[in-house]
Amino acid sequence: MLKNLNSLVSLCKRRGYIFPSSEIYGGLSACWDYGPLGVQFKMNVRQHWWKEMIHRSDVVGLDSSILMHPSVWKASGHVDGFSDPLVDCKECRFRFRMEKEINSCPKCGSKNLTEPRDFNLMFKTHAGPVEEEASLVYLRPETAQGIYVNFLNVQTSMRKKIPFGVAQIGKAFRNEITLGHFIFRCREFEQMEMQYFVSKESADKYFEYWMEERKNFLQKIGLPGTSLRPHEHDKDELAHYAHKAVDWEFLFPIGWKELEGIHNRGDFDLTQHQKFSGKKMNYFDSETNSSYIPWIIETSIGLDRLILALLCSAYKEETIGNNESRVLLRLNPQIAPVQLAVLPLSKKEPLKDLSYKISAVLRKKWRVEYDETGSIGKRYRRQDEIGTPFCVTIDFDSLTDNKVTVRHRDTMKQDRLAIDQLQDYLNGTNLF
Ligand code: GAP
Repeated sequence: MLKNLNSLVSLCKRRGYIFPSSEIYGGLSACWDYGPLGVQFKMNVRQHWWKEMIHRSDVVGLDSSILMHPSVWKASGHVDGFSDPLVDCKECRFRFRMEKEINSCPKCGSKNLTEPRDFNLMFKTHAGPVEEEASLVYLRPETAQGIYVNFLNVQTSMRKKIPFGVAQIGKAFRNEITLGHFIFRCREFEQMEMQYFVSKESADKYFEYWMEERKNFLQKIGLPGTSLRPHEHDKDELAHYAHKAVDWEFLFPIGWKELEGIHNRGDFDLTQHQKFSGKKMNYFDSETNSSYIPWIIETSIGLDRLILALLCSAYKEETIGNNESRVLLRLNPQIAPVQLAVLPLSKKEPLKDLSYKISAVLRKKWRVEYDETGSIGKRYRRQDEIGTPFCVTIDFDSLTDNKVTVRHRDTMKQDRLAIDQLQDYLNGTNLF
């Protein structure tokens, strides 16, 4: 397990996973850019979540806009209640978020602090050319509200009966005060949320159901069960909308922290939107002949935070004999950005030609990187570091015996096999 984030941050930069945003200008706090490997990795993780949520009969998808009518955020309680208590140290002028356990400045230790005052975390901007109160809009701080305001559109167009869910992936923005810890807490991040509409009577049952479903997903995608634990929010921790909230926490190098939240939001959101919009948010249940505002069970995870958890648990440093060591990312092969590396022992013909042909065939099915530069040892180290599950090495014997070597990332075991058996061999691995 990774002891601190520094070595991961440097690997991510060195190998093209994640770069600081606007780095040539000194960076922008809590904003990050995903490089060529990072963007592919992120896409794979996103697709896994989407498939898990949408390949079922009771959940459909949605992609709502980031900018919404400002009344949405009044109704949701975010304008009045989505704030952090901000405190200034009167000695060193450090500004920070007041936590229960903090009574002195985290920077200089002084107890000479200002009274906490509420700081709203929503980013504001203006729609249209005139910057006035009437044109004020917010960058959404959660994707959930886009689903609530479309509840009736989705339910009627898709003829859905309760219980059913709506899943959405998209950017969210929060003007966070507490920063640091790499992509754990960003000001611009991506959420993967699912809102499950249920009757009041079945809310507890579905809460438990989604707790289990989400844990299974987190384990399937690559997080060990021992690094996950539930944490139920006390009354004073609960968000303004929640009846009950339990987090799946992950053991990050910075300690146990929230990874995904499961929330029973009751009928708070739909009731509020009914009140503020004047539009009925009722669902008509034809079986019981009754009409009611559904309750909502929400599952909400930050894609960037999941990426961090996956990278942290995949990161390993190993000694491999003769005082040699290697760093590797033991990523689930299905989500690894590069699944196969094709490595000719020499960049000269005819090895190059054969290697090109092999990579072209494999690329039809898998994400393949072709690399002919540097010693084979260095190339293996690089593939280990970026988490490539298999390397296919083509050597001079390949030209006569029509065989190649497949090297396994985790065990470094090597198998020699015929080129025409390569695809069958790979089909039998855990690349799917
Ligand atoms: N719709 C409910 C909601 O937004 P939340 O607990 O505020 O609930 C849900 O956020 C998830 O979004 C968190 O568990 C976390 O994974 C992710 N998240 C929240 N704020 C984040 C931030 N500033 N940077 C990265 N991820 C964040």
